[in-house]
Amino acid sequence: MSAEPRYENILTTVEGPVGTITLHRPKALNALNAALMAETLDALTRFDRDEAVRCIILTGNERAFAAGADIKEMAGAGPVEMLARDNLTAFDAVRKVSKPIIAAVSGYALGGGCELAMACDMIVAAETARFGQPEINLGVIPGAGGTQRLTRAVGKARAMEMVLTGEPMGAAEALARGLVNRVVPAELYLEEARKLALQIAAQAPVAVRLAKDAVLKAQDLSIEEGLDYERRLFYLLFATEDQKEGMAAFIDKRTPNWTGR
Ligand code: CAA
Repeated sequence: MSAEPRYENILTTVEGPVGTITLHRPKALNALNAALMAETLDALTRFDRDEAVRCIILTGNERAFAAGADIKEMAGAGPVEMLARDNLTAFDAVRKVSKPIIAAVSGYALGGGCELAMACDMIVAAETARFGQPEINLGVIPGAGGTQRLTRAVGKARAMEMVLTGEPMGAAEALARGLVNRVVPAELYLEEARKLALQIAAQAPVAVRLAKDAVLKAQDLSIEEGLDYERRLFYLLFATEDQKEGMAAFIDKRTPNWTGR
């Protein structure tokens, strides 16, 4: 990877095969202003291109993953200005990242913060995590996927209630409803996310990438189209060295040595 860029609103680290992006505007509870989103996307793109990175963690601090889009930045804007800025398309770009992204969430994940966590592939939450779409309290609605992703994650009735009342959901309920993968005591959420990331990073990289792609497609395609898509990716993997290695290692009763080829 080329020299680390200087970021002002995020911190980035690479430890072994795991790249971590930490949202870092603590005084504003990590409110997602345009600069922070641009830096986050830049870091995600760099990690996606870096062969050494096999799984990405996106996190905030203990108090807040992110308390939403930056209200102060958009309060006075008109629709033409909002359209010209088009900050919210950054959330679509998160989805285009080919490597798995784990959101490690402690404290507030509200509005755009909840939407950013949901745009990731998995969520590891601290017991203190609170997920909500409070935009209704500001006279607007979620604009970065909240009405769509939350509804798919927790079902229409509960999503409708959250979006219409603005009331957040706690970590235990988020786990019970399948919004998050794991809930752990507050001091362990980052460690737990790292464990999960390392487990994924130890798998064959091309298979991981295509598996992520196929699971995401399940949300968009009919079952027929999804099954066809999956099958094509499955056959495609037989062009990889890692498929030969993985199956040979099984037969030889040894641990596979993945090359990512
Ligand atoms: N935008 C800008 N600044 C924010 C912010 C946001 N979304 N959330 C918090 N902050 C700022 C506060 O203004 C405050 O700054 P000052 O110290 O300069 O006053 C600082 O962060 C700390 O916040 P509070 O003093 O409010 O902290 P609290 O503990 O009393 O309350 C909170 C915490 C309940 C999360 C409260 O900050 C809050 O309600 N924040 C807004 C949540 C929200 O409405 N999010 C949705 C935004 S719209 C959106 O996201 C649209 C979309 O779909 C993309």
